[in-house]
Amino acid sequence: MLSLLRLATIRLVKTITVGISGASGAIYAQRLLMQLEDSAEVRQINVVISGPGRRVISDELDVSATADAEQIVAEMIGRPSTKTIVFHPGDIGAAIASGSYPVDAMVIIPCSSSTLGVLASGSSRNLLHRAADVCLKEGRRLVIVPRETPLTTIHLENMLKLRQAGAMIVPAMPAFYHRPANIVEMVDHFIYRVMDHLGLAHSQETVWQGDVSPVSKI
Ligand SMILES: Cc1cc2nc3c(=O)[nH]c(=O)nc-3n(C[C@H](O)[C@H](O)[C@H](O)COP(=O)(O)O)c2cc1C
Repeated sequence: MLSLLRLATIRLVKTITVGISGASGAIYAQRLLMQLEDSAEVRQINVVISGPGRRVISDELDVSATADAEQIVAEMIGRPSTKTIVFHPGDIGAAIASGSYPVDAMVIIPCSSSTLGVLASGSSRNLLHRAADVCLKEGRRLVIVPRETPLTTIHLENMLKLRQAGAMIVPAMPAFYHRPANIVEMVDHFIYRVMDHLGLAHSQETVWQGDVSPVSKI
């Protein structure tokens, strides 16, 4: 009994920051938040949503535009969150603005080309930017999920800079080899890959086991 309790305590360890910016693809943030809420490994989720992020969430999901940020998260995951702390993007003095505050990893999902540019230039203007900049300077995992098409040389150079600074660039490019039957299956498979990069376990197998197709022998 004691060892079971200890195991439960050990597993509930990770604090993950989720930044949501104003790119299309609010469903990616929604499905990730649902997974983190259910993850036995995640103790705390810090959420910061940019102003344009709120706008896109209400455009793309069944979420009221006028709701406060806690309510937005609750509407996104379908119930009040038991682990989320919501930070205001203007609260530049919040805990996640400091490297002394322990966070295991951060993801920006989806990441607009605007936020990408700010991060690549190191000129943070809100808490989402600052929290990501802190991850880079502290050498912590930062996963960036850009969503834009087509990409200009400016976008591409910004991604290169951020990769060189230590961020993982995981563009919102869902796969099809697992034959998703619907959008949720397609998004979730991508979200499991994001969780791989956040260092989080998940319920689904995303490791490619090799191809037995006779086509590969041609
Ligand atoms: C419905 C909607 C969809 C958008 N989609 C994208 C997108 O996919 N990628 C992008 O870079 N910007 C997109 N934008 C524009 C950004 O929201 C805008 O550049 C904003 O200033 C980004 O601010 P933020 O990075 O602080 O969230 C979209 C805007 C709206 C209203």
